[in-house]
Amino acid sequence: MTDFAAWSREVQSRIESALARVLPNSAIAPEKLHAAMRYATLGGGKRIRPMLAFAAGEAVGADPARVEYAACAVELVHVYSLTHDDLPCMDDDDLRRGKPTCHVQFDEATALLVGDALQSLAFEVLAEPGACVDKATQVDMLALLAKASGSRGMAGGQAVDLAATGKSLELAELEFMHIHKTGALIEAAVLLGAMAGGMPSDAQRQGLRHYAHCVGLAFQVMDDVLDSETDTATLGKTAGKDAAQGKATYLTLMSAKEARVYANELIENALTAIDHFGDAGANLAAIARFIVERRY
Ligand code: IPE
Ligand code: IPE
Ligand code: MG
Ligand code: MG
Ligand code: MG
Repeated sequence: MTDFAAWSREVQSRIESALARVLPNSAIAPEKLHAAMRYATLGGGKRIRPMLAFAAGEAVGADPARVEYAACAVELVHVYSLTHDDLPCMDDDDLRRGKPTCHVQFDEATALLVGDALQSLAFEVLAEPGACVDKATQVDMLALLAKASGSRGMAGGQAVDLAATGKSLELAELEFMHIHKTGALIEAAVLLGAMAGGMPSDAQRQGLRHYAHCVGLAFQVMDDVLDSETDTATLGKTAGKDAAQGKATYLTLMSAKEARVYANELIENALTAIDHFGDAGANLAAIARFIVERRY
C-alpha cells in the first residue's frame, strides 16, 4: 500500500518547483504580467490534475521526469481557465485559492493576458524535447491538450455554462456541460501523464479514458455540492455563489445527498475501469476516492 497523503505532498512540492521554474521571473519585462502569472499559479490549489498525470504515468510505467512536463502543462491551462472564470464577465469572483482573484489583485486586462500567456506557456512546456519518449506521440499529446482546452473541450463547456445561467438544464445537458468544462482537462491530465512514456496500448487507453470520464464528471458534481455545503474559508473561494448567480448545477436537479450518491457511483465505475492496472493503479484509485471525500 502506498501512503497517499505522503505521495500527494510529494507531487505538490514537485509541481510547485517545476511551475516556479517554467514561469518567467517577475523581474523580466513585462514585470507586471509575469508577476501576475506567478501570483495566479503558485502557492495554492489542490494540484489534482498534476496528481492525475503522475498517477497515470505510474500505472503504465512512464518516467516521472517526463510526466512532469504534462503535469505542468495541464495545470497551466487549468490556472488560465480559473483566471478567466473569475473575471467580471464570467463568474465575477473576488476570492480564489484563499486570496484575491487575479483581476482584483492586479486588473482585468492583466488577468485576461495572464490567461492568454499561461495557455501559450502550457504548449511551450509540452513541446519541450523531454516531454515524451517519442516525437510522434508528443505531437498527439499537443493535439490532445489543444482539443481538451478548446471549443470542443473546456472553453466549449464554459460557453454552455454561461448560456445556461438563469435557466434550468435537463440532466443530459448538465452532464454535457460538466464533461466539457471540467472533465476534458481531467481526461487530458490522465492521458497525457500516460502518453509521456509512449503511446499506451488500446486496453490501457480504454481503461484510463473510462476512469477519467467518471472522475471528471464526479469532480464537478462534488464542486457543485461543496459550493452549497462548505464555508468560504475552507473552500478558498466564495461559497454559495452558484445559487446566488442562478448557475445550472447538479443541485438544481437533485438534492446534495442524491448528488453525493451519484458521485460515489461514478467513482465506483472509475475504480472498476482501472482494476487491471493492479498495484500500479493504486494512486489513481486513491485520487478517485479523495475526489468524493474532499471538503474543499
Ligand atoms: C476548480 O478546480 C474549478 C473546476 C474545474 C471545478 P479545482 O477544485 O481543481 O481548483 P484548485 O486547482 O484546487 O484551486
Ligand atoms: C469552472 O467551474 C470550470 C473552469 C474553470 C473551466 P466553476 O465556475 O464551477 O469553478 P469554481 O467553482 O469557480 O472554481
Ligand atoms: Mg464558472
Ligand atoms: Mg466559477
Ligand atoms: Mg464551482
